[in-house]
Amino acid sequence: MNFVTDLDVKGKLVFLRVDFNVPLDDKGEIRDDTRIRASLPTIVWLLDHGARLVIASHLGRPKGKVDPAMSLRPAAKRLAELIPNKVVMAPDVIGDEVGRLKHALGEGEALLLENVRFYKEEEKNDPKFAKKLAEDIDIFVNDAFGSSHRAHASVVGIADFVPVTAAGFLMKKEVDYLKKAVHTPVKPYIAILGGAKVSDKIEIIESLIGKADHILIGGAMAYTFLKAQGLGVGKSLVEDDQMEIALIILDKARANAVSFHLPLDHVLAKTAEAGAFTKIVETLPFPDDMMGVDIGPKTVDAYAAVIATARTIFWNGPMGIFEIDEFAKGTIGIAKAVAYSGAVSIVGGGDSVAAVKKAGVEDRISHLSTGGGASLEYVAYETLPGITALEK
Ligand code: 3PG
Repeated sequence: MNFVTDLDVKGKLVFLRVDFNVPLDDKGEIRDDTRIRASLPTIVWLLDHGARLVIASHLGRPKGKVDPAMSLRPAAKRLAELIPNKVVMAPDVIGDEVGRLKHALGEGEALLLENVRFYKEEEKNDPKFAKKLAEDIDIFVNDAFGSSHRAHASVVGIADFVPVTAAGFLMKKEVDYLKKAVHTPVKPYIAILGGAKVSDKIEIIESLIGKADHILIGGAMAYTFLKAQGLGVGKSLVEDDQMEIALIILDKARANAVSFHLPLDHVLAKTAEAGAFTKIVETLPFPDDMMGVDIGPKTVDAYAAVIATARTIFWNGPMGIFEIDEFAKGTIGIAKAVAYSGAVSIVGGGDSVAAVKKAGVEDRISHLSTGGGASLEYVAYETLPGITALEK
């Protein structure tokens, strides 16, 4: 795989795929520009070396239709504030006007295309669409680690129609970190998995069984594991269609001598709202009218004791509904335990990264990944479609 600095980009039309999938508030203002800043090293290097830069990204899930609320215009504005170079916002992704703007680009100038997902062909990895994206492009650079688990046209398909491809600085940093830390982890290796759904994490859990020494489970996915064992979890969020797989996972963990930890106590609430009536319980079943919203203090202590023994930690997914302060103690407690563990720590996923920031410990985490789904899939499969496309 080429790395961007291997290339002579002067005067070349470079197509750079980034992940500018940033959160916007209801006024359309960017709430967190981490992902834009994360690709600045690649953008700045390309522009400083005289590339004529076409930048592409998705934002949200517009499902193949133009949706002004998911325009990349705010990202163009922010990028123009961050770099001294000329940044032009394109009105579209492909077409005559975009072609004209591409040709008008001078060295060291950037054109940000509209949201590639305004075309349904993007997610279908349609070769005709990929070919249109690649029109007149000399070099394709992928810096969108966070999108590289998606076999989409601007991530994968385009590589077939551009003569030279390369990885950007962010892509390299993410892959180098994950590869070193998680493929050959220094033991004890502890994985912490949270979030709502078991179904999102099956592949990663299966890949971790046999690699990790401990798997610590939190978030709503814990209730699916508990219910699968016949325990009543009140009105907690569960995936009834995942019970069978949950039992298979528990059996596999036992057979492979992996310590698979489920919460020992729970914060229950009547509703998932601030100010709701709550109580902490250690025994199941939960009352029928209550739901689990966080791990309890005993679990935080028990998980923290395991985390303290770690040399490598991979964490994805919050331990509860941490956006609501009353239900955030478990996730914050785990964030602090990870931060002060002294282990090499990798945290992926928007929610877990936000929790680390909320806990004020981001400087103590070895690597905050910009990819949620991407970091999970990379750890599970040891590659991603967007990386394989660059290796062809
Ligand atoms: C992310 O936010 O994880 C990436 O930008 C990918 O977005 P997606 O899940 O909508 O493909």
